[in-house]
Amino acid sequence: MNAPIRSETTNPYARAIAASKRVRWDIDHDVLRGRSLEHEHNYLPDGLTLAHTLEFLSASERRFMSQVQGRSYTNMFGLVERFINTKVLELGKHHFLGDQVALEALVRFSDEELKHQELFRRVERLAASGMPGGYRFLPDANAVARVVLERSSWAVLALTCHIELFTLAHYKRSIEPDARLSPLFKDILMFHWKEESQHAVLDELEWRRVDEASSPDQREQGVTDLLALVAAVDGILQLQSAADADYVQGHLARELSPGEQARLRDTFLRAYRYQYIGSGIELTRFPEILFGLVGDAQAARIKAALGPLL
Ligand SMILES: [Fe+2]
Ligand SMILES: [Fe+2]
Repeated sequence: MNAPIRSETTNPYARAIAASKRVRWDIDHDVLRGRSLEHEHNYLPDGLTLAHTLEFLSASERRFMSQVQGRSYTNMFGLVERFINTKVLELGKHHFLGDQVALEALVRFSDEELKHQELFRRVERLAASGMPGGYRFLPDANAVARVVLERSSWAVLALTCHIELFTLAHYKRSIEPDARLSPLFKDILMFHWKEESQHAVLDELEWRRVDEASSPDQREQGVTDLLALVAAVDGILQLQSAADADYVQGHLARELSPGEQARLRDTFLRAYRYQYIGSGIELTRFPEILFGLVGDAQAARIKAALGPLL
């Protein structure tokens, strides 16, 4: 009998490599296939956009709201992937002369995030070609990355783990089951989900590795940094939700009342806070990982800071 080969199942980094090879896709050949975004469909489901809660909007106005939020959703991924990829390359250094399997897993992770950024740039061009002018995605990927990467790896990995876990939850729970979404937009998020599944595993492995090497003071600083990053994320959401609400309003064929305008803006902000902060806490195992790593006083600080955003 042959000696058993060291199974990929015993090493989570090796499992991530195997999965990465299995699902690997090409932007043109597999995802876009020469298609354009369909104007007659939603891009994101109601559960994420909250468009269904605005009874004063017509069906086509809600659809436009869903398409604008979908455009910002993919732009937001392109944005965060800039700092995620930079951090992943930096973490790879730890494995340069050590675990070559872990190093390969991180190199593939980085390669995929570079490809995803290109995919989301292409999606932005497709979305722009079918929408009226005036849309603006305000945050700059490099400026945000510079601010984020000043914080400790513990905090950046926590934020990254959170983002990649909610990406999976959004796709599985509300995007995949929604038959009303644009087939192309859905495919884009399906292919993204396939490669993100490994990233979420690697984030957690690296976060736990960094956490184990942290002193109590470093972990305390990690919590402080994470809360600063969440506040920075919320600043971006406030800015972009207001810009997107104004863009939608500016392209309705009628004037909304001041009360309706306020509700539109408020709903955009609530939707974005749910998409990028609340849903990760509510729908994923992120809180389980986070609260398993920090002490009671740190957990209380985190809950107090998140409370007003949820
Ligand atoms: Fe990605
Ligand atoms: Fe990712």
